[in-house]
Amino acid sequence: MSVVAVIGAQWGDEGKGKIVDMLAEKARYVVRFSGGDNAGHTVVNPYGEFKLHIIPSGVFSTGVTAIIGNGVVVNPAVLIGEMEQLHKSGVATPRLFISDRAHLIMPYHILLDGLEEKARGGRAIGTTGKGIGPAFADKVARLGIRAGDLLDKEAFRERLSAVLGYKNTILTKVYDAAPLSLEDIYNQYCQYADRLAPHINDTTMMLAQALGRHEPILLEGAQGTLLDPDFGTYPYTTSSSPLAGGACLGAGLGPGQVTHIMGVFKAYCTRVGGGPMPTELKDKTGDAIRESGHEYGTTTGRARRCGWFDGVAARFSTRINGFTTAAITRLDVLDELAELRICTGYKLDGQTIDYFPANIAALDKCQPVYEELPGWEKPINDVRKFKDLPPNAQRYVKRLEELTGCPASIISVGMKREQTIIRRKVF
Ligand code: GDP
Ligand code: IMO
Ligand code: MG
Repeated sequence: MSVVAVIGAQWGDEGKGKIVDMLAEKARYVVRFSGGDNAGHTVVNPYGEFKLHIIPSGVFSTGVTAIIGNGVVVNPAVLIGEMEQLHKSGVATPRLFISDRAHLIMPYHILLDGLEEKARGGRAIGTTGKGIGPAFADKVARLGIRAGDLLDKEAFRERLSAVLGYKNTILTKVYDAAPLSLEDIYNQYCQYADRLAPHINDTTMMLAQALGRHEPILLEGAQGTLLDPDFGTYPYTTSSSPLAGGACLGAGLGPGQVTHIMGVFKAYCTRVGGGPMPTELKDKTGDAIRESGHEYGTTTGRARRCGWFDGVAARFSTRINGFTTAAITRLDVLDELAELRICTGYKLDGQTIDYFPANIAALDKCQPVYEELPGWEKPINDVRKFKDLPPNAQRYVKRLEELTGCPASIISVGMKREQTIIRRKVF
């Protein structure tokens, strides 16, 4: 029996959706444990191409129960829309469950996300605008409304009325915006409640029973380690923990129950939104990677900032998560480059350092120290065995393994499920 946590090891968009969809063929439960619909997980499988924001990427595999865990903030409208889209593509969702403890994204969260970003001016975080930060802030401030609250409409109305009074004061007095109507939100969320009620459950109980039956469980991360509010490039981060530790918290499992922690690393780096990125390439090579990798945001469509693989950040990510294994994705995107670079250290104030500074002012000053490796300059999409990769591609992967300190069980060479080299099985 395995419990495998699939964790974004960089700044998100590492290809977690593809890896989870592929691994889910052998799983019985797939649990999203953090974030909300700021995530955009692309899955290409026999049902078609999907961009999932809130529903776990394992939903396509027969026999899988998909769970939106307590650590996720849920926009019910987005969830219902995504369920309907899946139904239209022939994917049923009777075995989709939402934790009764998951917090809900409310209309004021989305409004405030936009207003707060505007107020930040030149220091805007570049959020996805989905209300994520304000929803997690309310959770911690004990002002949240949870999925389970929808099941008792009278209590829900009372709670909403109390919270909305406070939110409307902020909207009108701080931001000079129009107040929101209690009736409108209440009626709208009652409709969502009717649609979602059969799916709302104590999902921790379901997982405990699955563990008791020794059934394989996948924990699907959202975002990436360097967007973590504690260990990422704070304050240019998201608002929930994408880490292995966050997986336990956001699913309702104990750390000892997780058997494998898989870090998903892109073979290079990307970032969307503001904040430091030491290996960013603002030149033709960066543009070439963006174009060959179609590096445009799944959720917002924004161009992703592209750069070389950052070995310093990657090693930090392995340490903070305790990765026991890795998946390296998008190796094929580098197919055409004659020369590749990997960052092995940073130059900071005249000294070479090998750690990832906590402080963004320091990170902003860090100059990457690179080592060069030759490219392989041929397509690898059809390779299925490590030994069949061109020698320079093998060498590149081995160097990434050395730098991350983590063996790569999976190497992804294309968007499709089958475009994968599997070196070690986790299930
Ligand atoms: P996620 O947020 O981590 O799930 O990643 P996204 O879906 O936002 O972005 C990853 C993109 O890379 C998606 O368009 C995937 O279909 C695509 N992808 C995943 N693995 C590979 C790969 O090995 N090669 C290529 N070319 N694309 C990949
Ligand atoms: P997946 O799961 C990449 C980024 C945003 C912004 C910052 C804060 O697809 O890897 P937020 O809306 O969370 O308050 O925005 O975090 N961000 C992501 N970047 N992939 C994601 O998810 C992201 N989710 C949030 O761009 O910089
Ligand atoms: Mg994404």
